[in-house]
Amino acid sequence: MRPTRGPGWQSAVAPRPTQRYHFGMVARPAKPKPKPSSPRPRAKPLTARTADRHELYQRAVQAPASDAAFYARWFQKYTGRPLRVLREDFCGTAVLACHHVLRHADNRAIGVDLHWPTLAWGRIHNVRKLLSAEQQQRLLLLQKNVLDVRAPKADAILALNFSYSVFKTRAELAAYVRNCFRALRPGGILFLDAWGGPDVLRQVTDRTRHRGFVYEWEQRRYDPISHEITCAIHFAFPDGTRLRDAFVYDWRLWTLAELRELFVEAGFADVHVLWEGTDHQKGGGNGVFRRKEKGDMDDAWISIVVGRKPGG
Ligand SMILES: C[S@@+](CC[C@H](N)C(=O)[O-])C[C@H]1O[C@@H](n2cnc3c(N)ncnc32)[C@H](O)[C@@H]1O
Repeated sequence: MRPTRGPGWQSAVAPRPTQRYHFGMVARPAKPKPKPSSPRPRAKPLTARTADRHELYQRAVQAPASDAAFYARWFQKYTGRPLRVLREDFCGTAVLACHHVLRHADNRAIGVDLHWPTLAWGRIHNVRKLLSAEQQQRLLLLQKNVLDVRAPKADAILALNFSYSVFKTRAELAAYVRNCFRALRPGGILFLDAWGGPDVLRQVTDRTRHRGFVYEWEQRRYDPISHEITCAIHFAFPDGTRLRDAFVYDWRLWTLAELRELFVEAGFADVHVLWEGTDHQKGGGNGVFRRKEKGDMDDAWISIVVGRKPGG
């Protein structure tokens, strides 16, 4: 069985944390460091006052280079052609879209997010730093509701870290899936990741230690009647300060069965689930996804729902 894991914590294909750390509770053995020839100024320890929540989120939750490679590989496998135009819905700071552009001179990306300040952060910290002027021409960031964007048409649409869970009614989520269908080129692929398992329904906080901070994923409240779930991300620092509620998610927990039905109703073909395998030695997912018809009774799981727009 797997240990409890939350979503917002790690990208679906990123290496998983296998241990939970609390400052002061688990001491890592200090590694002897070689002495530098000229002393470099040490980076100041992070505190709640100096830390940037987007920076920490990217470090703790996302793995954009490996995610971009992962989805490009699956796209090639499904269609026999390279993934050229990627739309990243709920793109936040658009770091994954940037990495898609970086992968090939013919790659283009569209990032869609409602929240202007987050997109602006992404422009300053990701787009300008990661991409040359020419590469920036191949990235389009739209400050829009994902329900309203149908152009430019994409080869693949990704909605990751369960962001579509903001849609709390079947009608809303159906409208989103239908809109993705319309926004894809013939033969295009929609990928939505999903999470579940009994651990997800428990009130619990998972802690993962990173360099300079602890990442906390809190499952705060789950309502079995509406399937609504509230989760939050906090960051804790060595000086005892905390960024509480750095991100709060007010979601509905959708099941794989519901997602598959909505894909089929929207017109997608070959609708199926990529299920992550288990690392039996360490517990947790092993990062290897396979197409499966039946899942496992894991305590917590992550998977990806896939559908192909006919044609192409
Ligand atoms: C959890 S973040 C996702 C960040 C990143 N894509 C990831 O995988 O970690 C969710 C983002 O969705 C955006 N968002 C929420 N509802 C939206 C909507 N209807 N249309 C576009 N963006 C939306 C929020 O502004 C937020 O930046």
